[in-house]
Amino acid sequence: MNIINFNKKYSKQLSELWLSPEITKNTLSTKTRTTPKNLTKKLLKEKQNSFLAIENKNVIGFSSLRPFEGRKNHSADFVIFVSPNYHRKGVGTKLMKKLFDRTKKLKLKRIELSVFSDNKKAISFYKKFGFKIDGKKKKSLQRDQKLFDEIIMGKLI
Ligand SMILES: CC(C)(COP(=O)(O)OP(=O)(O)OC[C@H]1O[C@@H](n2cnc3c(N)ncnc32)[C@H](O)[C@@H]1OP(=O)(O)O)[C@@H](O)C(=O)NCCC(=O)NCCS
Repeated sequence: MNIINFNKKYSKQLSELWLSPEITKNTLSTKTRTTPKNLTKKLLKEKQNSFLAIENKNVIGFSSLRPFEGRKNHSADFVIFVSPNYHRKGVGTKLMKKLFDRTKKLKLKRIELSVFSDNKKAISFYKKFGFKIDGKKKKSLQRDQKLFDEIIMGKLI
């Protein structure tokens, strides 16, 4: 398995993985934002901050750091996911390490995320990397007509 910077030749595969049931269930992006065309347009600009995990020419994971602007320009949030067939094999760890390398390179002071309160896998994954729960926005997210708390986690670098 290799981790490479985003390359537009993988946009279609990345979009398919992003729109697969386990990933859409747990991420906040909309379908329109994750079409191959929109991914290519957006991620090409952020190539240095976006990573693909590739196994036998297939996209099996993705991470992307999204630095904020203005008063928050010392910090960033990010997206990360791994194909369910490859969970718990260290792929997420490699993708997360790439994000930490970028935060150091960009001299950021804080990295943060928000996660569905029922996403125990991800919460335990983030805790392993030293993220702490900053707070909870009650019933701020919805999925399948149900409301979920949004857990905000952060890590100072
Ligand atoms: C969260 C996610 C990216 C983790 O990726 P992964 O490749 O499975 O993670 P790793 O194999 O590198 O696991 C690293 C650590 O995370 C924790 N972890 C991962 N999966 C876990 C699980 N199912 N249960 C408990 N802890 C888990 C463990 O501490 C693990 O270390 P260990 O295996 O030595 O115990 C993956 O589960 C995923 O893509 N989920 C769906 C999309 C998603 O929820 N993205 C985050 C949205 S906020």
